[in-house]
Amino acid sequence: MYCDDSGGTGVPLVLVHGFPLDRTIWSGQMTGLAASARVLAPDLPGFGSSPPGGRAPSIDGYADDVRDLLDRLGIDRAVVGGVSMGGYVALAFARRHPERLRGLVLVCTKSGADSPEGRALRDKAADLVRREGTGAIAAQMLPKMLAPGAAHSPALAEVDRVMRRQSPEAVIGALAALRDRPDATPGLSSISVPTLVVSGVDDAIIPRSEAALLASRIHGSRLFSIAHAGHLAHLDAPDPFDAAVREFLTTV
Ligand code: MLT
Repeated sequence: MYCDDSGGTGVPLVLVHGFPLDRTIWSGQMTGLAASARVLAPDLPGFGSSPPGGRAPSIDGYADDVRDLLDRLGIDRAVVGGVSMGGYVALAFARRHPERLRGLVLVCTKSGADSPEGRALRDKAADLVRREGTGAIAAQMLPKMLAPGAAHSPALAEVDRVMRRQSPEAVIGALAALRDRPDATPGLSSISVPTLVVSGVDDAIIPRSEAALLASRIHGSRLFSIAHAGHLAHLDAPDPFDAAVREFLTTV
């Protein structure tokens, strides 16, 4: 996988992007957290600058790709974090590779699987991308990505550009991965590493109650809610987000 690496000697912190995005949504954290961590922001297979993976996309497969990345970089254990779909990948990593995990950062994400209606919507979305390209799904998702106050912000224009440049094949593959992901809820009580759960109070895609559920099931986890922040809370409110992660990293 293509990966940005802030360098440095701090604790390795992998940040996994959401759907349908790429590693560049973490560019603020590459600098904002550089003094506290070695920030690693990969492009999942087929997204951004990464070539498509060699297997059918799945959330578990993406988690294995993160493990392979750590192997390639000679990193034994890392804090793994992600926003939304990236959080699903972090939870799959916790389940599949607990011996490689130092901590978890779960941002605007949830543990449950898709409902039957949700699964059908993934198929509809994939058909839309097949017919009209990635721009069609970007147009649907854009209004829900940031807090309402960000309607005319440069950050929103950038999120739009990032979504629109993703390859239809990667987006269609990720929709199948999202549709078929297992329910991670039963595994939450087995997580034994320090965990930070972050929610955006104005998240229009994943309600805050999901963050509360994660925090209540993961022993010893901390819950941090960010006001005036939407689904991509780290973009709406980078300073509070970075400060919370920095503080969390001192406990890892
Ligand atoms: C994301 O932001 O990664 C997606 O909205 C997650 C999802 O659709 O389940």
